[in-house]
Amino acid sequence: MSEVRLPDISIEAARRRTFAIISHPDAGKTTLTEKLLLFGGAIQMAGSVKGRKAARHATSDWMALEKERGISVTSSVMQFPYEGRIVNLLDTPGHADFGEDTYRVLTAVDSALMVIDVAKGVEERTIKLMEVCRLRDTPIMTFVNKLDREGKDPIELLDEIESVLGIQCAPVTWPIGMGQRLKGVVHLVTGEVHLYEPGRNFTRQDSTIFPSLDAPGVEERIGADMLAELRDQLELVQGASHPFNREAYLEGMQSPVFFGSGVNNFGVQPLLDFFVEHAPSPQARATTTRLVEAAEPRLTGFVFKIQANMDPMHRDRVAFMRVCSGKFEAGMKAYHPRTGKELKLANALTFMASDREIAESAFPGDVIGIHNHGTISIGDTFTEGEKISFTGIPNFAPELFRRARLRDPLKLKQLQKGLAQLSEEGATQFFRPLMSNDLILGAVGVLQFDVVAYRLKDEYGVEASFEQVAVATARWIKCDDAKKLEEFREKNAMNLALDAAGHLVYLAPTRVNLQLAQERAPAVEFLATREHA
Ligand code: G4P
Repeated sequence: MSEVRLPDISIEAARRRTFAIISHPDAGKTTLTEKLLLFGGAIQMAGSVKGRKAARHATSDWMALEKERGISVTSSVMQFPYEGRIVNLLDTPGHADFGEDTYRVLTAVDSALMVIDVAKGVEERTIKLMEVCRLRDTPIMTFVNKLDREGKDPIELLDEIESVLGIQCAPVTWPIGMGQRLKGVVHLVTGEVHLYEPGRNFTRQDSTIFPSLDAPGVEERIGADMLAELRDQLELVQGASHPFNREAYLEGMQSPVFFGSGVNNFGVQPLLDFFVEHAPSPQARATTTRLVEAAEPRLTGFVFKIQANMDPMHRDRVAFMRVCSGKFEAGMKAYHPRTGKELKLANALTFMASDREIAESAFPGDVIGIHNHGTISIGDTFTEGEKISFTGIPNFAPELFRRARLRDPLKLKQLQKGLAQLSEEGATQFFRPLMSNDLILGAVGVLQFDVVAYRLKDEYGVEASFEQVAVATARWIKCDDAKKLEEFREKNAMNLALDAAGHLVYLAPTRVNLQLAQERAPAVEFLATREHA
């Protein structure tokens, strides 16, 4: 049976492109997402992505918080076909306080697209996200957006990207003017000149494209002065920048750069065409014991995200699983190595760009949604029987801590249940000190506490407040020597706690205290991240 399935899987895997867009808020991620979906025929009208967000706001109480804050808390998955490929776009939440969620999404993609505002250049959040991509050498393409506005000089901007982000830039398109003077872009690989025509430019057919800068009509359209200026600039660019090198891109050393204006559709299609041609298809992935190749016949995948109550019509929890190898078929059973149990993957969801649909099949690079009632955790692996576990899905040491206080002490059970579930989803982390009955929450960003308070009330009927607690940082404890671990446990019981999964954690009241504890227990490892496994 597996022999029959093999060619099918390698062909399907090879045409998948699974990626995420990374950017600082307001750089234009939502706008670009929408344009990409339009190219995929996934939505009919511009405005639908935002419209869809608004509709969700109206129907979900939890989402009301998102609306109040004007941020996007949730991530979603959008799949669309383009030029014989299947593109999976994994959305990442924009607000810095939801960093952990974003990091995990980035473990599930094969490449990323970085959007930069031409006027603002490299911003703080882009730097952070880029650091995460670095951890796995994720290949990155860059789109410099808002070319219809005045911005930084393109050569200086490339310099900035190279020096701040530490990645080589290979411009693939180059702007002809900017802001009021924007005339178009020239494609440095094909030589084509794409004119900027507001209100048009959506497709090649709807655009004026010249085969080269020397083609008749170019000078007339962009002006002799501009053309001369452009030629000078291109000479400089060719001297100062790198030509596109696919290997360097795939190794995460070089980023192809495109210029355009998302809101005007301009420069988006050259980006998408280049992306589907050069971006990597699903790659081999590391597990605790071996590398899993995408074209292997048996299904494997891992869960990178869990979300509750995505839609009030389906009050369920959905685990998002990235397929890494093999083929998923509706109704099949999968093995869950962490619990040793088989789980029937009935009614799994796929994410065609508009709505959730029942998945008939899915291939490497695709994401399916599995309904569950708390049996699945972030980081879990699924297989067809093999005992392996994918690595590299991190839990970050929180930097902010609060003690949960109940308004109604009789609701302790609900509070514990709510916190356990929310921490399983990654909405917060949750610690129970060994020596007290406190419930301590940890977060990477302060807004996470508001979301937790809101959801506890909304979904679990518990009113809780959070107060300051003397914890500065947390470290997961690891020690292979059972005797030394026991000794450490006894001596430091006051500062030890268990996380939601039962792992031992050191809660340090100050950084100095942490340092001292580390010095006193050299046999013990203090880990700033814990991998889900
Ligand atoms: P984000 O998801 O990265 O946060 O950014 P988003 O797409 O929401 O874009 C942020 C703002 O930038 C939006 O304006 C959007 O219209 C604008 N924008 C996106 N691409 C371009 C572009 O190429 N040129 C120009 N000039 N603006 C662009 P807004 O006023 O905040 O929202 P809206 O009123 O347009 O909805």
